[in-house]
Amino acid sequence: MEKLKIAGSELLKGSVNISGAKNSAVALIPATILANSQVTIEGLPDISDVHILKDLLEEIGGKAALENGEIIVNPEEMISMPLPSGKVKKLRASYYLMGAMLGRFKKAVIGLPGGCHLGPRPIDQHIKGFEALGAQVTNEQGAIYLRADELKGARIYLDVVSVGATINIMLAAVLAKGQTVIENAAKEPEIVDVATLLSSMGARIKGAGTDVIRIDGVEELHGCRHTIIPDRIEAGTYMIIGAAMGKEVLIDNVIPLHLESLIAKLREMGIHVETSNDQIWIVGGQKDLKPVDIKTLVYPGFPTDLQQPFTSLLTKAIGTSVVTDTIYSARFKHIDELRRMDASIKVEGRSAIVSGPSKLQGAKVKASDLRAGAALVAAGLLADGVTEITGLEHIERGYSKLEEKLTNMGATIWRERMTDQEIEQLQNS
Ligand code: EPU
Repeated sequence: MEKLKIAGSELLKGSVNISGAKNSAVALIPATILANSQVTIEGLPDISDVHILKDLLEEIGGKAALENGEIIVNPEEMISMPLPSGKVKKLRASYYLMGAMLGRFKKAVIGLPGGCHLGPRPIDQHIKGFEALGAQVTNEQGAIYLRADELKGARIYLDVVSVGATINIMLAAVLAKGQTVIENAAKEPEIVDVATLLSSMGARIKGAGTDVIRIDGVEELHGCRHTIIPDRIEAGTYMIIGAAMGKEVLIDNVIPLHLESLIAKLREMGIHVETSNDQIWIVGGQKDLKPVDIKTLVYPGFPTDLQQPFTSLLTKAIGTSVVTDTIYSARFKHIDELRRMDASIKVEGRSAIVSGPSKLQGAKVKASDLRAGAALVAAGLLADGVTEITGLEHIERGYSKLEEKLTNMGATIWRERMTDQEIEQLQNS
């Protein structure tokens, strides 16, 4: 087991190339199950979730080769193998295997998903969608059993705007008979990316990226080649780091339109941000940052996934900022760790109240989830002295080549093997 160490307070300068989007990748890879011939996806991030999903495709009989961010999947010999436990439990997005396997085989058994603990994360809307399409769904000993004689298009209104449910219903509906309409659908760019892949495979989907998606079922889907969109959350994380510690930081391979809410908030704080077609330039390191309030909302609102790293930046602003998470009520596990680093933050209900400016101090901290990890990396770069971050397995789920990318911009960040005593302490904490 390893820990991450950061010697902070150094100004960063340089460029960072953004990887393919994690939250697209975890849906695109299961979507390949629906094709009847070879699908190639290029530009995938080098993160643990991608490797686990590739293994899962192989477990159900598929052939998958992953090299230099490109996966080539041959789904022809896949079977409807039950996956009640094992690797499916390691990631939240294994729920996309439900939609994809139900769509292709009309049956699936998938262990209830793992992933980050951000408070309750129900999948009732996914199930409502599958049932509307004609599936019988039961929950037996921690696994979801899905079975349908045939899938028939339906009109489905989502009671909660959900990225996962929108994508999962699309996956199940593309091979169903007739038309499916998803109302109150989520509009995230990752949904458009999945719809683009499915359309290249021959699916008929209209309205992805709006709140009404119409899918006309087709008989079969064929192979294709697809390039994934850049990761707006990874890009946003480096923008926040650039705002906190950057002299000049260029974010390369990004779609600025996907980050408008963050760009607006950074500008409100007094950070200089410029955009071009596929680059964002940040001039940070200002001493007189203004406090701002943020409220996380579904896309195109401020993303919940950037709330945690943004909180680290707010410790630098002069005055009080309020961060409210309307998506996940308990996404504040990073706050106790930031307090250990001398931040002045209190949590009241769904909000964190940040009083700045605080000069953060290096400390031993633990990443409890992926974006909490990103918040601690940003805080470690801001802090005086050395910060030691454990819980690296969470960070590895979402950030490709983190140390390399930060080192290239002048950060001092490295990994160290943990001693047996440290591992024991961590496990008991
Ligand atoms: N919800 C329900 N019922 C459902 C589904 C969702 O009540 O059936 C609620 C959730 O509890 C939450 C809200 O609806 O309060 C939004 O959840 P959503 O389904 O949109 O989230 P998700 O699909 O589970 C994805 C990302 C998350 C990201 C959210 C919000 C993936 C694999 N995960 O989760 O990413 O925070 O959308 O944008 O795409 C991360 O990258 O760190 C991460 C957690």
